[in-house]
Amino acid sequence: MQMKNILITGGAGFIGANFIRVVLAECPQWRLVNLDALTYAGNLANLADLPPEQQARHHFVHGDIRDGALLARLFKEHAFAGVIHFAAESHVDRSITAPQAFVDTNVGGTCTLLQAALAAWQEQGRPAAFRFHHVSTDEVYGSLGPTGAFSEDTPYDPSSPYSASKAASDHFVRAYGRTYGLPILITNCSNNYGPYQFPEKLIPLIIDNILAGQALPVYGDGSNVRDWLYVLDHCQALRQVFEQGRPGETYNIGGGAERTTLEIVRELCRIVDGRQGRATGSSEKRITFVSDRPGHDFRYAIDASKIKRELGWQPQHSFSTALEATVEWYLGHQPWVEGVKSGDYRQWLELNYAGRNC
Ligand code: NAD
Ligand code: DAU
Repeated sequence: MQMKNILITGGAGFIGANFIRVVLAECPQWRLVNLDALTYAGNLANLADLPPEQQARHHFVHGDIRDGALLARLFKEHAFAGVIHFAAESHVDRSITAPQAFVDTNVGGTCTLLQAALAAWQEQGRPAAFRFHHVSTDEVYGSLGPTGAFSEDTPYDPSSPYSASKAASDHFVRAYGRTYGLPILITNCSNNYGPYQFPEKLIPLIIDNILAGQALPVYGDGSNVRDWLYVLDHCQALRQVFEQGRPGETYNIGGGAERTTLEIVRELCRIVDGRQGRATGSSEKRITFVSDRPGHDFRYAIDASKIKRELGWQPQHSFSTALEATVEWYLGHQPWVEGVKSGDYRQWLELNYAGRNC
């Protein structure tokens, strides 16, 4: 069996760790080098229980995508067949309070990675099968009104420092494709949920706060809409795009499960209360409307017809079943949240909610 070395960046984070778990199980010929700086969002515990045969194909490197010398060494040592680039600062609220890290990692880091990939690809004689797959977000398209959906042709119109930095990184990736011929792929995905997500994002944060008996903060009036996709469906889409996508192309990925924030929070209250044997409605009482996120995008929705038509991808999980499974996972993994990251998480909550009415 011909082994394929693939560089994964940000593989200790939420989506990266789920992706690594999927492909190590499903692609026996893949050998992964996982480069992650282990910021507050990265957690090697996400990968600690891999079976030995899979551990043997997972090589972790603690390092930064902004470190060009390290990247040059890794490309030389491993002759990568491709790169799947997850590493990023990923939280909108943090980008509002401290944008510079988003410029540094999401824009600067992506450019450093592109340059290292280009140099190695040129040195290898420009292999046609090489892929640089950039994992991006639907937030680059800005905000929708009550109707319509983002297609691959929707003009970029980012609202937050996070989405602006991801938009800039998308532009650089596309430019390396057009200017130098690097075989790039870009995917723009909607909101993911599932296991191993850091509890600063809506779904794990609300589950954690319900369990802790704390206030459930809802920004504004809770009417903002997101298109929710189970992380394992995203991982399958990424694998299909990486293996079958046409170089130079962009693919939008979404779950077709639009929900308002308030609907999500109420549904989580219902599921957790049911599982904890609490009276119906007891957690809903703790829903607390807090001041809105500045520049808060009203609605995201994805037109995923291109990836469905060209690659035959379809989400395999219904929203209601996958949300139940997600709650189940967090109920069984509270030690992961409390034991490994509790100091940082609590500190973040204090910082993030300072000045909010909750
Ligand atoms: P995450 O914050 O959970 O994980 C990011 C990972 O990147 C962490 O392990 C972190 O340690 C690592 N990292 C950060 N800076 C780094 C650096 N300078 N060098 C090396 N590693 C670094 O993020 P996520 O939610 O898993 O998102 C992964 C990617 O998917 C991001 O690019 C994000 O923009 C994109 N995305 C996320 C969603 C979502 O709903 N979470 C949806 C669409 C796209
Ligand atoms: O759309 C894809 C994007 O989804 C990814 O690119 C981002 O990395 C990811 O963080 C996510 O961004 P959002 O800002 O949509 O996700 P978040 O979980 O932060 O918020 C979801 C919605 O819930 C949003 O409308 C804000 C609201 N919210 C969020 C939090 C954390 C609340 O009302 N209360 C909260 O405490």
